[in-house]
Amino acid sequence: MKVTVVGAGAVGASCAEYIAIKNFASEVVLLDIKEGYAEGKAMDLMQTASLNGFDTKIVGSTNDYSKTAGSDIVVITSGIPRKPGMTREELIGINAGIVKTVSSSLLEHSPDTIFIIVSNPMDTMTYLVHKTLDIPKNRIIGMGGALDSARFKYRLAEALAAPISDVDGMVIGGHSDKGMVPLIGHATRNSLKVSEFLSEERMSQVVEDTKVGGATLTKLLGTSAWYAPGAAVSGLVQAIACDQKKMFPCSTYLEGEYGLKDLCIGVPVILGKNGIEKVVQMELTAAEQAKMEESAAGVTKTNGLLDL
Ligand code: 2OP
Repeated sequence: MKVTVVGAGAVGASCAEYIAIKNFASEVVLLDIKEGYAEGKAMDLMQTASLNGFDTKIVGSTNDYSKTAGSDIVVITSGIPRKPGMTREELIGINAGIVKTVSSSLLEHSPDTIFIIVSNPMDTMTYLVHKTLDIPKNRIIGMGGALDSARFKYRLAEALAAPISDVDGMVIGGHSDKGMVPLIGHATRNSLKVSEFLSEERMSQVVEDTKVGGATLTKLLGTSAWYAPGAAVSGLVQAIACDQKKMFPCSTYLEGEYGLKDLCIGVPVILGKNGIEKVVQMELTAAEQAKMEESAAGVTKTNGLLDL
């Protein structure tokens, strides 16, 4: 199982590290345009192999896509991260060109590969890859909801004063500060609805804190987060690599599901060896559906900024 991660910055290197530590891949190629940077990160990560107990081979490459040839899965993290106060959408001008070039170069060397898009604005970048590459939509996956759901669970556990392992919850919709749809009505504490433990007001606070989870960290860190994004990607990669048939909220190209079409946005999907093996059509309340449609309108507006 060969995986390529493009972008050896904090997010990309974290992706590579978590994938390696899970030890299901034979090789991870870490590629960056900065001379020697990916090679240095790969070597540093390989020197943790005996300490963290993995046999995965991590190889660095300075912009040589021939090293990525035959990748089963490719992850695109390249592009600029946001600064405090910026929205993800403001990154489109620079990141669209990078993602277009990178995705084409990856496909040239791995014609059957499955794409996972992380670069922001992620839903629009996923849509860009879909429009740029003539490949089936099941092989193009946007990673946002898995990360947002992890932040949702963090906030739920905080509100409940419960261990994270006791809570479950999912975030669908756009991966944007305003467009996320944390499904608080479906969230549970060990199979019991969280509404049995939390007031309406506290549940609303959990939702709002989740939506700005990325921005909160960017304010603290001065740049985008990387540990949770990297870990979220590694979960998607493992589900595909190990054919787990696991359900995640992922950004995927819709053709009428949830009443939405011609955009990529976060919905529950089943991930396995073929990438997105099924879009799960869950029952949404009228309020949840309205939020999804509002979120979709925002994503479609950002898509309109692309030069397709
Ligand atoms: C985040 O929310 C980078 O979009 C990513 O942290």
